[in-house]
Amino acid sequence: MGNYRYESPALGPKALEMIKKDKEVIFGAHTRSREIPLVIESAKGVRIKDVDGNTFLDFGAGYSVASTGYSHPEIVKILKDQSEILIHNPGSDFYYHTQVTLAKKLIDLAPGDFPKQVYFGCTGAEMVESAFKLTRYYTRRSKAISFYGAFHGRTYCGMSLSGSKKVQRAHFAPLVSEIIHTLYPYCYRCMFKMSYPDCMKGQGEFEGIPMLPCVSFLTDHIFVRLLDPTEVGAIFVEPIQGEGGYIVPPPEFYRLLRAIATKWEIPFVVDEIQSGLGRTGKMFAIEHWNVAPDVILIAKGLASGVPISAVIAPSKMMDPSIDGRGWVAGSHGSTFGGNALATAVAVKTLEMIEGELMENASKTGTYMIEKLQDMKDRHKIIGDVRGKGLMIGIEIVKDRETKERFPDDFTTDGKDIKSVIVGGAYKRGMIMFGCGFNSIRMSPPLTITKSDADEALGIFEDVIGEIEKNL
Ligand SMILES: Cc1ncc(COP(=O)(O)O)c(C=O)c1O
Repeated sequence: MGNYRYESPALGPKALEMIKKDKEVIFGAHTRSREIPLVIESAKGVRIKDVDGNTFLDFGAGYSVASTGYSHPEIVKILKDQSEILIHNPGSDFYYHTQVTLAKKLIDLAPGDFPKQVYFGCTGAEMVESAFKLTRYYTRRSKAISFYGAFHGRTYCGMSLSGSKKVQRAHFAPLVSEIIHTLYPYCYRCMFKMSYPDCMKGQGEFEGIPMLPCVSFLTDHIFVRLLDPTEVGAIFVEPIQGEGGYIVPPPEFYRLLRAIATKWEIPFVVDEIQSGLGRTGKMFAIEHWNVAPDVILIAKGLASGVPISAVIAPSKMMDPSIDGRGWVAGSHGSTFGGNALATAVAVKTLEMIEGELMENASKTGTYMIEKLQDMKDRHKIIGDVRGKGLMIGIEIVKDRETKERFPDDFTTDGKDIKSVIVGGAYKRGMIMFGCGFNSIRMSPPLTITKSDADEALGIFEDVIGEIEKNL
C-alpha cells in the first residue's frame, strides 16, 4: 500500500439504499467504481442529477454515448413521434424507410470512393463480431491482425481482438484463434524507447511512405516469421485507441496500414465505435489521416443513447450478387438491429452532428487541449496531453523526466492515481473516466459550451493541484 491519504466520495442516504438493492440483483462484475457512486435520478443537457439532489457536470457522456447531450428536445420529439408510428419489426425481414434513410446517410458520410452497404446491430461488440465474420467470409482467409492496447468489446471476437488489460481475457480461453497482435504507436511510451519522428531515420520506406519501426515489426517480423500476409483476412484498428489510453498515432501510421492492406488485399477495418460520429471534429476519426478504410464500425453516439450500431462495408462483401464472395442470406442477422425507433433517432442525431455539433467538438476540443497544454506547464504530474476534438486524454506521471508511473496501490487503501483523480472530480461535481494504465479521459457530450469546458478544466486543475500539494 502507498502512503497517499484519500477518501472515496461519500454516499447520500438514497444512493446508499439503492446501491444496496442493486447489489442483491445485479451481477457483480460491473466495472462500477467506488469513486463514481452515481445513482442517477435524471439527466438533461450535460448535467446529471442524482437521487440525493446533487448535480454533476458530465465529461464522460455515458462512455461517449450521449453525443447530443441528455434528452435533447429534438431527440425527445423524434422518439415520441416515431413511437407513435412504429417501434419495431425486424429490419432483417421487413422494410421500412428509417432504416434505408439512415443507411444512405452513413454511406454518403463514409470516406472511400466505392459502393457501400450497411449492416445494423445494437452494440459495439456486435459490430466487431459482424466485421470479423464478414471479412473472414469474404476473403476466406483465417487470420486477423490487431494491436496491443486495443479494446474491441466483451464478446469472444471483441475480447480476442483486444489487447488492453489481461483481466478482460483471464480464464476465458480458448479465445478466437488466428488473431495476431502487433504494435500500436504509443509514441509517449514507445516500446523501442525511440522518439517520433527520429524513429523513422534509417527505416526506409514502404510504398513510398516513410516507415515507422512499430509498423516494420508487422511487415519485417510478423509477416516473415509467423504468417504470410496473404493469409490475413482483416486488420482491425481503433483510429484513436480509447480504453487503451486515448492514444493518437503519428501521421504516417494509417498511410502505412492502408498501403499494407492494399498491397496484400487485406480488408482494413476501423473501429470507430468510440472515436466516430463527430467526436473528434470529423465524422470519422480516420479522416484526420486522410485515409479511407474498407470497413467502418460505429455504435455509441449514433442515436444519442438509443442502442444501435452499424458496419459500413464495401457492397461486394455484403452482397453475393456482386462477385460471388459476399455474405449470402442467412450468413448473419439480428432481430433488433436497425430497429425503427433507433434508426429514426440516429438520423436525427446525425443531422445534429452535421449541423453544428461536429464543429463545436472541433472548436471546443481544440480550446480544451490548448488549456490543458498550458496546465501541463503548471503541473508536473501531467505527463502528456493528447487527443482530437472532444476525445481528450491526459496521462499522469510521478516523474515527468523518466515518465515513471504512480504505483497501482498509490493510496493507503490501495487505490491507483486514476481513482484519486476521478474520485476527486466527482467530489467536486464532475464526472470523467480513466483509461489506459494511468490516463484520464474527457469525452463530454458534443453540445458542451466554452463555459462548461472552463468549469471542467477548473475542477480538473483543482484536483491535480490538491494531489501535488499532498504528495
Ligand atoms: C473502440 C471500442 N470498440 C468496441 C467497444 C464495445 O462496444 P459495446 O460496449 O457497445 O459492446 C467499445 C466500448 O467501449 C469501444 O470503445
